[in-house]
Amino acid sequence: MELNYQMVKNNQKINGFIRATEKYIIELGYTDHGFRHLTIVADRAKKLARELGLTAKEQELAAVAGYCHDLGNFMGRDMHHYWSALLLSQILLPHIEQTADLAKVLQAIVNHDNNNLETNNAVAAVLVIADKSDVHRSRVKQKSLRKIKEDIHDRVNYAVNDNDLLINRQTKEITLKLTINTNWVDPLAYFQIFIERMTACQKAAKVFGYKFVLIINNFRF
Ligand SMILES: [Fe+2]
Ligand SMILES: [Fe+2]
Repeated sequence: MELNYQMVKNNQKINGFIRATEKYIIELGYTDHGFRHLTIVADRAKKLARELGLTAKEQELAAVAGYCHDLGNFMGRDMHHYWSALLLSQILLPHIEQTADLAKVLQAIVNHDNNNLETNNAVAAVLVIADKSDVHRSRVKQKSLRKIKEDIHDRVNYAVNDNDLLINRQTKEITLKLTINTNWVDPLAYFQIFIERMTACQKAAKVFGYKFVLIINNFRF
């Protein structure tokens, strides 16, 4: 069986682990790592793959990696990229004959959190950009405004009203365009916690010979 997005989306074992992750992330009080985040990342990874000219198969693999990259969070945050890859392989191995495509997906998943693989795996590169660019108020699980103000991750996410990812094939730029409510957070606080993510996106964009650009409230960085 060929690996594709629909197959993992309909897999009850995968969805069961995602539900366990949602539950654990709520216990931790973190921003969303469940179905909302995973669907956004899968769709964005697929769109990026298409717009960057990757093959139809790679577009599917990007969506698979996007949907499954965080499913192991319920086993611990620190190593969740490894847990996610190992759990996914256990679920999928009995159903596939060739492992080359799965290897690409697993490599992408392992790379997504520390971006430490020196690889030109295009699926890994689009996953990094799709994952690290999911910053938006809808990602905040916390309901209390007082508590949102106390946590910098919540505060930064909550401040983002609009999030667009644009690809320009002429200028070879991948642009993350954010509209931030500066009553909640100033752009400096955004950089404080997102510099690492933005550096990861820059490195990933380079795989395609692209530049990663960040625009916050019409200021280009
Ligand atoms: Fe993750
Ligand atoms: Fe993620």
